[in-house]
Amino acid sequence: MNILVTGGAGFIGSNFLNLYVSRYGEHKFINLDKLTYAANPLNLNDIEGLPNYQFARADLTDYNQVDAVFSKYNPDLVFHFAAESHVDRSILGPAAFIQSNIIGTFNLLEACRKHWPKDNDAQGSAKTKAHTSSTSPTDDSADCGYQNPHGKLFIHVSTDEVYGSLGLEGLFTETTPYNPSSPYSASKAASDHLVNAYYRTYGLPAVITNCSNNYGPYQFPEKLIPLMIINALKEEVLPVYGKGENVRDWLFVEDHCPALWAVAEKGSPGQTYNIGGNCERRNIDIVNKICENLACELNKNQNNYTKLITFVPDRPGHDLRYAIDASKIKEQLGWQPAESFESGLKKTIRWYLDNQEWVENVLSGIYKDWIETNYGKRG
Ligand code: NAD
Ligand code: DAU
Repeated sequence: MNILVTGGAGFIGSNFLNLYVSRYGEHKFINLDKLTYAANPLNLNDIEGLPNYQFARADLTDYNQVDAVFSKYNPDLVFHFAAESHVDRSILGPAAFIQSNIIGTFNLLEACRKHWPKDNDAQGSAKTKAHTSSTSPTDDSADCGYQNPHGKLFIHVSTDEVYGSLGLEGLFTETTPYNPSSPYSASKAASDHLVNAYYRTYGLPAVITNCSNNYGPYQFPEKLIPLMIINALKEEVLPVYGKGENVRDWLFVEDHCPALWAVAEKGSPGQTYNIGGNCERRNIDIVNKICENLACELNKNQNNYTKLITFVPDRPGHDLRYAIDASKIKEQLGWQPAESFESGLKKTIRWYLDNQEWVENVLSGIYKDWIETNYGKRG
């Protein structure tokens, strides 16, 4: 198969490629990425040069560029990771989020619609399936019926943030109504609706995954966990929004990737799968845990780090709590996370300690010069 991975130079996409390119030598992986600030081709050092890996620099917001990649590689599977992904940036400047997340997804869907074979029967089944799933999505385990006859599948990697905020109780399920709070989550919600519309209208074989907060190696240090690790190491403030009582459901990135692979292998077009770590933590508890682990790793007093914790003004529209009910993907596709939060966090901290050069490249921005030297100027 030819497997197109969009956003493969970002955090989750690069973990995905690092896991699967060498494991599945029989498939060709094409990484379509614009190389924004969040991309780092150095993440892909281990697979660069492998015969079944190709990089295609392209901007999803330009249909002609997307079309050219489809004409050249004729992908069978699309794992669509590429997006502007950081909530705080979406509050400061939403325009790029509308462009990349909505228009970018639209262009990718259009390219699939143009390049993938159409099958009237498949479209009929797809429509039936879509209606079944929208009315009784929990009753469909016996009827994962629609098999795409051409082996094509569009896997849309989305977020639990489309559901908005939970109160102190309850979990997001696949039928929770959409209620996004930030420009980021609204743009992801819009892209999810487009994917569903292409499935229902054109029978385009597509699935949506809505995943909780990821953490692990290669995460850009604007996100909570790497930011706290790196600031603590530099003895800089650890900025905690509000009172630090917001809750996220954390998933180790190397557990997210097999969930997506299981969706590609066994998922049914038209379905949505929630993916989560069953691992709710308050932000302040995470930050304290990072301080504790660092102190232990570096043989220091924990107070050296906890004294850096600073409560700062809250994020506007800050969702209180996310928590995923991942029973559908567990029961239907047999996926569940392997890593506990404690072991995943230890591995993550170890990775940042062992990869100081990567950290320095990111912080100094040298990785951007390297991209310009190797791939030309950023768009
Ligand atoms: P990231 O910001 O680390 O990487 C995004 C990648 O997309 C970058 O390589 C960037 O260059 C590329 N990109 C952005 N705009 C592009 C465009 N117009 N054309 C081509 N490439 C473009 O993101 P991430 O954290 O790896 O997230 C990947 C996906 O997973 C996103 O769709 C995000 O919404 C979703 N997601 C992330 C999390 C999380 O916790 N990080 C959780 C659930 C879902
Ligand atoms: O839930 C999935 C989402 O998780 C993904 O869709 C997003 O792409 C990803 O960025 C992430 O969004 P969050 O906003 O939850 O992640 P972030 O790491 O930015 O923040 C996690 C929590 O920590 C959130 O409640 C805000 C808080 N926070 C964050 C930062 C950066 C702080 O208290 N201080 C900080 O400096």
